[in-house]
Amino acid sequence: MSSTSRKKVLLMGKSGSGKTSMRSVIFSNYTARDTRRLGATIDVEQSAVRFLGGLVLNLWDCGGQNAFVDNYLSSQKDTIFSNVAVLIYVFDITSTEWEGDLRYFEDILFALRENSPDAGVWVLINKMDLVDKEDPKRRKYDERKSDLLAVDERVRKDLEEEGKIEGIGGVLRCFPTSIWDESLYKAWSSIIHTLIPNIGLITSHLTYLRDICLSVEAVLFEAETFLVIAKSGSPLGCDPSDLDQVEVTNGARELDQQRFEKISEIIKGFKKTCQRNHEQYHGFEAKFDDCTVVLEPLTRNTYILLVSVDPRAETGALLYNVHQASPHMA
Ligand code: GTP
Repeated sequence: MSSTSRKKVLLMGKSGSGKTSMRSVIFSNYTARDTRRLGATIDVEQSAVRFLGGLVLNLWDCGGQNAFVDNYLSSQKDTIFSNVAVLIYVFDITSTEWEGDLRYFEDILFALRENSPDAGVWVLINKMDLVDKEDPKRRKYDERKSDLLAVDERVRKDLEEEGKIEGIGGVLRCFPTSIWDESLYKAWSSIIHTLIPNIGLITSHLTYLRDICLSVEAVLFEAETFLVIAKSGSPLGCDPSDLDQVEVTNGARELDQQRFEKISEIIKGFKKTCQRNHEQYHGFEAKFDDCTVVLEPLTRNTYILLVSVDPRAETGALLYNVHQASPHMA
């Protein structure tokens, strides 16, 4: 990736829904526990995160207290809502003011669609850890999601009536999240994945590497955040019917769909432990009875995970191939 691509990412939602917590866990190495110390965000906190060398995310963490939101929707409207690549809107599943929350969301969505019609919209329904025990089937989440889709539909209709529908981006996408588990990585990986310019090429390189390494999976992680960038075979988060032949043969359909994000969370935790002990995480390799795994730096900004179930695959050979592939992925 040679030239720099800058993307404005708005992080919005009511005060206390968990916006700064998410940002701090993903981008600033906080643990979920550390986020309890965070104070309310005043107005907008901007930060730039260099991602994969050429992609810079301009994160606008917009404090969610009502007075600030009213300002975003009036005097700051043009500044906040123009040139947005992605809106990430965070709800607290335990909120007792759902109707009010929805009204604010509707106003924000309207302002966004008016000013940045092709922006992607991602809604994260957060703090799922607090309701999962009493509602294991996630009925409340499903209800919230259908309310949100109805709002999206309504905003489109209103804009259509005003003759402003042209170029409006896809339907909003919803994710259940908690900063206490891998669901946070799942949601953010899916979002970031859509912003990386040459993702198709990266996927095809990974597929090629997987095949020459006699592997079943090759997965690319960003080195700092450990977010999943891409994987071999099919695109991230695609429909199971779109898996490629190697994935189907190796039973990927039956595997845990969040297995890579679990690795993100584990490695991130391990890296923090290493830091505390003034050690640095370099990589991981292991040979088990039925598989060989390496998780090694591929480029300056990425790590690669290779998993092979072929008994002929030796860790040394996988590492050699990773080393050889490095210049092609830089
Ligand atoms: P403003 O800056 O006022 O807009 O709030 P915010 O949305 O940035 O909320 P913040 O990240 O400061 O989080 C508020 C509180 O929620 C913190 O004490 C977090 O620890 C807690 N929190 C955030 N995410 C979760 C979650 O997924 N589960 C649980 N149980 N608590 C969470």
